[in-house]
Amino acid sequence: MSNEPKKKRVAALISGRGSNMASLIEAARAPDYPAEIALVLSNRPDAAGLAFARAQEIKSVALDHKAYVNRADFERAMQAVLVEERIDLVCLAGFMRLLTAEFVEAWQGKMLNIHPALLPSYKGLHTHERALADGVKIHGCTVHYVATDMDAGPIIAQAAVPVLDADTPDTLGARVLAREHAIYPHALRLAAEGALRIENGRVLGGGDSEGFLMAPAI
Ligand code: GRF
Repeated sequence: MSNEPKKKRVAALISGRGSNMASLIEAARAPDYPAEIALVLSNRPDAAGLAFARAQEIKSVALDHKAYVNRADFERAMQAVLVEERIDLVCLAGFMRLLTAEFVEAWQGKMLNIHPALLPSYKGLHTHERALADGVKIHGCTVHYVATDMDAGPIIAQAAVPVLDADTPDTLGARVLAREHAIYPHALRLAAEGALRIENGRVLGGGDSEGFLMAPAI
């Protein structure tokens, strides 16, 4: 028997491209990473991320939400797969379905999301367009524990990027996405190690890792 602590079994929930999911899969290849991506679950059978996950020989399941009579029914089917696969932690990675309070509560403190803005600014969609329209000089991304309100919940890690004069939503979005791919594996590592605690809505114990908190050189 190995004395290594058991890796946490993680499900990545996706709806599309899956580049954040891919960054988690890549990170989890490291022998000392405290989590393995044991399952990829998509609500869209045509999600590009599913093909990537299958090519990596990761268990991949498509549950088409349109095949269920309502949200609760769809979530019951998801929950059954998560339980079957003995999942410890869920990472939402571009998963475009709102979740019921019941599902969120079942995974409280065990479900992470990545959002392409510095929360609590720019909840919801079109974050890069809105940041540009407001003329902000700093933008970024956030990994947080999922709470019942959309794009809310205790913040685990944030990465800031500068907004440049010539930026379009696409160029700004690409700069943010590059940081998403670094910060999500970092946040999952902290969560899977059991390093984090939540006090009065704040996540503590993350170690003040400045590389993820400061705008990188342009
Ligand atoms: C990312 O920008 C993520 O922050 C947001 O949805 C997008 C998903 O992209 N929640 P991908 O599917 O991970 O490439």
